[in-house]
Amino acid sequence: SVCCGESPEPRHEKPRLTKPVDPQKALIKRKIPMPLNIAILASGSGSNAQAMIDKAAAGVLDVNICCIVCNRPGAGVIERARKAGVTCVVLDHKEFADRESFDLAVVQTLQDHGAQLIVLAGYMRILSTAFLEAFSGRVINIHPALLPSFPGVHGGADAINYGVKVSGCTVHFVEEKVDSGPVLVQAVVPVNAGESEDELMSRIHVMEHRIYPQAIQWLAQGRIDVQGRQVHLKPGNSPRAPHDGDWLVWPPLEQGF
Ligand code: GRF
Repeated sequence: SVCCGESPEPRHEKPRLTKPVDPQKALIKRKIPMPLNIAILASGSGSNAQAMIDKAAAGVLDVNICCIVCNRPGAGVIERARKAGVTCVVLDHKEFADRESFDLAVVQTLQDHGAQLIVLAGYMRILSTAFLEAFSGRVINIHPALLPSFPGVHGGADAINYGVKVSGCTVHFVEEKVDSGPVLVQAVVPVNAGESEDELMSRIHVMEHRIYPQAIQWLAQGRIDVQGRQVHLKPGNSPRAPHDGDWLVWPPLEQGF
């Protein structure tokens, strides 16, 4: 079972004897649970990372983005992180001897920043076994098609070229086999007649920017339970988001997303 809503291991266990405790601060510390530390791994423009940054800044997504790791120097996500004041670590995979040594450096970086949930957002690298073992059950990804149809790097375009009448996006847990882990949430959008690939993909991206932060919020709230391939969402207190377009999201989007 997955338990990303849990607090991290306390880092400093020794009581501080030198400074007196500010009772106001102590109270705040007790009352507000520590937000989930998420790390985002990205290789490209980072529009999904931006959606998470914006939702967290708006107080809708209760997480701390502890770092963004990017494997491509010059990628758009780096500038987005800088503008938002989020720590961004650039590790160029080309400077490492092999996948294992690169992944070990990424894992070390993620652990140094206290990452509890690893969010892949356009991260164009296959994760090694060592990586997945280090964050077992705590890595999620988004794919621009309705899995298990159209996996792979060109999944979005493949669906359109196939001539499907609906497509969409899928948030799923990451397992060794690419695009195959248990499904957290999916969004379905219609394929309009005569629509170009770019038009459809941009409508899918709009839904990505809604369901990915939503899935992370469910994890942050400790509402996700995984039994084999089945991902169960525990009931919460938020009402459903208004249905404002031609889309279906299941489980339903909640207010703020
Ligand atoms: C998205 O289409 C996502 O589904 C796929 O990679 C793309 C990332 O886009 N995994 P961005 O970098 O978040 O804009």
